[in-house]
Amino acid sequence: MSTLAKPNLSVQVSGIKMKNPVTVASGTFGLQSDNYFDLSVLGAVVPKGITLNPKEGNKPPRTIETPSGMLNAIGLQNPGIDHFIKEVLPRYEKFDIPIIINISAESAEEYALLAEKLTATGKITGIEINVSCPNLKRGGFQFGSDPKETEKVVKAVRKATDLTIITKLTPNVTDIMEIAKAAEGAGSDAISLINTLLGTSIDVKTRKFHLANVTGGLSGPAVKPVAVRMVWQCFNAVKIPIIGMGGISNANDALEFILAGATAVAVGTYNFVNPRSPFEIIEGIKNYLIENNIADINDLRGAVETV
Ligand SMILES: Cc1cc2nc3c(=O)[nH]c(=O)nc-3n(C[C@H](O)[C@H](O)[C@H](O)COP(=O)(O)O)c2cc1C
Repeated sequence: MSTLAKPNLSVQVSGIKMKNPVTVASGTFGLQSDNYFDLSVLGAVVPKGITLNPKEGNKPPRTIETPSGMLNAIGLQNPGIDHFIKEVLPRYEKFDIPIIINISAESAEEYALLAEKLTATGKITGIEINVSCPNLKRGGFQFGSDPKETEKVVKAVRKATDLTIITKLTPNVTDIMEIAKAAEGAGSDAISLINTLLGTSIDVKTRKFHLANVTGGLSGPAVKPVAVRMVWQCFNAVKIPIIGMGGISNANDALEFILAGATAVAVGTYNFVNPRSPFEIIEGIKNYLIENNIADINDLRGAVETV
C-alpha cells in the first residue's frame, strides 16, 4: 500500500480548469440537486440544453426504461435563452466551479446568436455545442452526422465567442473520427461524446410504440462500450481534449474513459439511479490513484495498452 495521500485530480479541458475530471451530462442533473449536495465539489457543471426560444418538448410518454438503460425523447424542453440568463444562470453562479452551457439550434446563425448572448453575460466558462440531439425534427443530429454541417456550426460559434467551445458528438454516425476532425478543424477547443444512440421500443400488449415520439435516445450502462470505443478512436484522431460520457455509473467506468483518452468525464443517466454518483466517482478515482501509487490523473489519459 502506498503512502501517496494527495494525488493530483485537476485537469484542463482547453481553457476550462477543473479541480477534478468529473462533471455531469447535460439534461440529467438539475439545480434541485444542490439541496442535497455541494455542487462546488464537481469539476464543472453542465445544465440542461438551451435553445433560442422556449421549448415545451415532445408529447409524453417521453421516457421508457430499457435493459441497462433508458430511452428518452424529451425534445429539449427548456425556458429559452433569455429566461435562462435572467432567472436560472444566477442560481449557478454561487458555486465556485466552471459553468458550461449546452446549446442547440436550428441553424449556424442561431447557434452563433446563442453563443453571443451567453458570452455577453461574462458568467460562463464554456459552451457545449449540441449538434447531436436525436429527438428534434429540426436542428438535431443532422448537423453532427455531417462533417460539413458540423464545420459550419462550429465556425459560426467560433466567430461569436472567445469562450472554450466543446462540440458534442453523436454516436449515430459511421465514422466518428471524421466528425471529430471537422470540429477540430473548425476551431472547436474540445469535443464531448457520446450523446444518445437512436433507438425505439414497442409495447407488445398494446402493439404501440412506448414513446409518443416513436424514437428516442438510448443512454445508460448499455451504451458504455460504444462510448469508450468512440472516445478511444477520437483520442487517436484529434489533438483537442475529450470529455467522455455514456453509461458511466462508477469510478471504474470513469477510469475506462480516461484510459481510452478522455481528459474529463460526465455522469448522465446514472444520476437518476443514484444522484450521489458523480460525488462518489470523484472519491473512487482518488482512491484508485492512491491505491495504485499514481500521483497525477493526467498520467492515466490514453494509457490503455493492447494485450
Ligand atoms: C433525460 C435526458 C436528457 C438529456 N438532455 C440532453 C440535452 O439537453 N443536451 C445534450 O447535449 N444531451 C442531453 N442528453 C444526453 C446526455 O447528456 C448524455 O450525452 C447521454 O445520455 C449519454 O450519457 P449517459 O449514458 O451517462 O446518460 C440527455 C440525456 C437524457 C437521458
